[in-house]
Amino acid sequence: MQIPIKLTDKIFYVGVNDRRTALFENLLPIEKGVAYNSYLIDDERVALIDTVHIGQIDKFLKKIEAIIGSRPIDYLIINHVEPDHAGSVKIISKLYPNIKLVGNKKTLGMIEGYFGIKENVIEVKEAETLTFGHNSLQFFTIPMVHWPESMVAHNKENKILFSSDAFGSFGTLDGGIFDDEMDFFTFEEEMRRYYANIVGKYGNPVQKAFEKLSPLEIKMIASSHGPILRKHIDEVFSWYNKWSRYETDEGVVIAFASMYGNTEEMAEAIARKLAEEGIKSIKIYDVSKTHSSYIISDIFRYKGLILGSPTYSNELHPNMEALVSRLSHIGIKNHYVGVFGSCTWAGAAVKKLNEFAANVGCELIGEPVEEKQALKEEKYNACRNLGLAMADRLKKSE
Ligand code: FEO
Repeated sequence: MQIPIKLTDKIFYVGVNDRRTALFENLLPIEKGVAYNSYLIDDERVALIDTVHIGQIDKFLKKIEAIIGSRPIDYLIINHVEPDHAGSVKIISKLYPNIKLVGNKKTLGMIEGYFGIKENVIEVKEAETLTFGHNSLQFFTIPMVHWPESMVAHNKENKILFSSDAFGSFGTLDGGIFDDEMDFFTFEEEMRRYYANIVGKYGNPVQKAFEKLSPLEIKMIASSHGPILRKHIDEVFSWYNKWSRYETDEGVVIAFASMYGNTEEMAEAIARKLAEEGIKSIKIYDVSKTHSSYIISDIFRYKGLILGSPTYSNELHPNMEALVSRLSHIGIKNHYVGVFGSCTWAGAAVKKLNEFAANVGCELIGEPVEEKQALKEEKYNACRNLGLAMADRLKKSE
């Protein structure tokens, strides 16, 4: 027995929670789980908007059957082919053999590639509308938010935007499905971590999507992950707008690798000076302890970034190398960057961190500091000077 969850009289939530998967995309830790949201329009014709990860298919089918019983589904709208949403397309197609798969040209190419399905498909063009009775959906592509085929569907009758990955978040829906049924702001951190790591590279496409969707009337946003928004749409729009413009708050992330504590001691010296200079938001992360996705999320939040590493086999420490590699892929912008490190016989890490800062086009702040063996007075003071230079630059920042 399931009591259906209604967005409107004829539109239902049929998404599921996943509390078992440890790594999203087999990469990003999801301690708070994730919701795969899907929606069902039960009108004169039945339309399902996206499916769920294949591991959740049983729960998903029960929710659908609780609403439509043995009636068939006429359309499956595929807003995004990534398998957390399209993973059950093949099973749904077998269970409902007359179902029509709806997508744009790129979607349908991927559906053929992933599932070998090329019959019973409907290609929709930009801004085309499908009507199911009293409800319709109009489709708009939002390329690279998150894949090239990504698409949203707008239900003009109820002013609902089915936004796919856009405006999504990690975290399960624990009873509350709508943002006004929960302490919504607890989702902000996980929404930013989701954005920074999944869509963060694509700030310009996000801005283009905003432009394209701005004429639409929107009273509810039903994304593919996280809460359905009907109270806090303006706040989430402003967060997305800020993140996609790479705008940041005053504060500093100090991320370090340290084998035996010497580089960590340098990080502490820099942080102390920042605090003495009045910088209140300072986050120190050991890259061997904290997953890079959390560090990257805070880097999207704060303007200052200070990276430290020991030299390891004439390279960066491997965990710092992994972090700067991710940051290079994402292409962080508009940051002030400082660098420091230590070595035992020959230094290479600080040079490589300098190269990283130059390559991503960020402004290098202060003098790089590299200590040999234990931290001594001269380099301790150089660390404090680096903290001072970063604090001064942040305070002068517009
Ligand atoms: Fe939630 Fe890009 O998939």
